[in-house]
Amino acid sequence: MYEFTTMEYLAIDLGAGSGRAIVGSIENGQIHLDEVHRFSNKPVKLGNTLYWNFLSLYENILQGIHAAVKKGYQLQGLAIDTWGVDFGLLDRQGNLMSNPVCYRDIRTNGMSEKVDHLISNAEMYACTGIQQLEINSIYQIYSYIDEIDELIDISDKLLFIPDLINYFLTGQLFNEYTIASTSQLLNARTQQWEESLFKILPFSKQWMSPIRQPGSVVGTLKKEIIETGIPEIKVFAVGSHDTASAIGAIPLEPDMAFLSSGTWSLLGLALDAPILTEEARLNDFTNEGGIDNKILFMRNITGLWLLQQLIVEWEREEDAPYSYDYLLAECMKASAFRSIIDSDDPGFKNPVSMCRAIRGYCRDNGQPVPKTKGELVRCVLESLALKYHSVMEQLKACTGKKINTLFIVGGGSRNQVLNQFIANALQMKVIVGITEATALGNIIQQAVANKQIANLAEGRQIIKNSFTFVVYQPE
Ligand SMILES: Nc1ncnc2c1ncn2[C@@H]1O[C@H](COP(=O)(O)OP(=O)(O)OP(=O)(O)O)[C@@H](O)[C@H]1O
Ligand SMILES: [Mg+2]
Repeated sequence: MYEFTTMEYLAIDLGAGSGRAIVGSIENGQIHLDEVHRFSNKPVKLGNTLYWNFLSLYENILQGIHAAVKKGYQLQGLAIDTWGVDFGLLDRQGNLMSNPVCYRDIRTNGMSEKVDHLISNAEMYACTGIQQLEINSIYQIYSYIDEIDELIDISDKLLFIPDLINYFLTGQLFNEYTIASTSQLLNARTQQWEESLFKILPFSKQWMSPIRQPGSVVGTLKKEIIETGIPEIKVFAVGSHDTASAIGAIPLEPDMAFLSSGTWSLLGLALDAPILTEEARLNDFTNEGGIDNKILFMRNITGLWLLQQLIVEWEREEDAPYSYDYLLAECMKASAFRSIIDSDDPGFKNPVSMCRAIRGYCRDNGQPVPKTKGELVRCVLESLALKYHSVMEQLKACTGKKINTLFIVGGGSRNQVLNQFIANALQMKVIVGITEATALGNIIQQAVANKQIANLAEGRQIIKNSFTFVVYQPE
């Protein structure tokens, strides 16, 4: 039996490429989304450091809340989710000490090797289950110590980006479980801070706050926010890592893997327990915290970041916008399988020119150099599809699971050419249909915490009732 009263929730989802405020209205077993605000999320290089523009993000969040209120939505609550690993530092008075640094900053280069001298990656993986990536918070924190940067010494609290936003919205200090799992400092089994790491590494446990599980009320908006003309809205803690919320929205079935296709590509399975084997570690699989007590066993792959950067470059050079439709049509005119790149090559992390980086990679690897826009796009998309194929094979080997379907969510699921390439490369059925999966996952968690719906399974059923899924068959 469904409630016939409409209840409205605001999801604030910050992706590495763009942020959005989306209202979800749930009524009679259906959910309807309304995007009330969207803004680009662009790091800023100041001096030698690449920062997130935190003040602009915060300002846009407030604008998003205002926009929802202005449209007349009676919000039951709101919740924040963002990309992982990055954080801000607070002083004892609770002031933000510096703009959070972007994980693409070069400060972490070489840090994994330095940390490896203190504790081997194998030992660390056995407790955290996290894929060794130099962008992880652990290497970012270590870079302060390595550079003898006093900022970290005088800081009182370390809050991941969604924690930081929740703190400024409500005054509540905590580290939410799913986002904290991306730090590589959490124990994958106990879902608590791994005490041994704070002994081996020169890290203060005091920086960390209690871990909070998703699915509860954090508090209400602070007085200074309400004074700007916003009602007293409740703030919910959801799986504040965007990936956790996105995967939580997918009506996964047995034998079905997920791909969250955005700036990053996350390919994997939602499991009941972590897999902490050497095979999983050596194949670069991670065990990140999911919602509903799931472990997201997956690989973090550099995804459509490459295409985003190509487009930024062309638009800057030619001072004209490029549509995906145009670029995908050009892609289909280029010949197939000419040049294949590895999107995770360090040269693609943050190059001055993505065009030059891709061409240089092809030249260095003895492949034809893509010249036209169509050739470059085709090179990126085919390379991603082939990469997913090899990750899928490793995923099956590491988990021993049969997988016959891939459910793709995120902005990348709007790329019909890529979806078909993936179905072909994997020789597997591909399903798409929920682009804003992260916001949907965020909203159904709020509805559960608000007791409008019984559980997340009901939420996923509501999503199934509300969207049309499209199937791609391998060709
Ligand atoms: N109309 C479209 N057609 C094809 N692809 C699109 C379209 N709109 C967006 N995309 C793709 O979606 C990608 C962005 O996806 P998404 O919005 O899910 O990422 P994000 O939330 O900013 O990043 P994150 O991976 O951190 O969640 C773009 O890089 C682009 O390739
Ligand atoms: Mg996203």
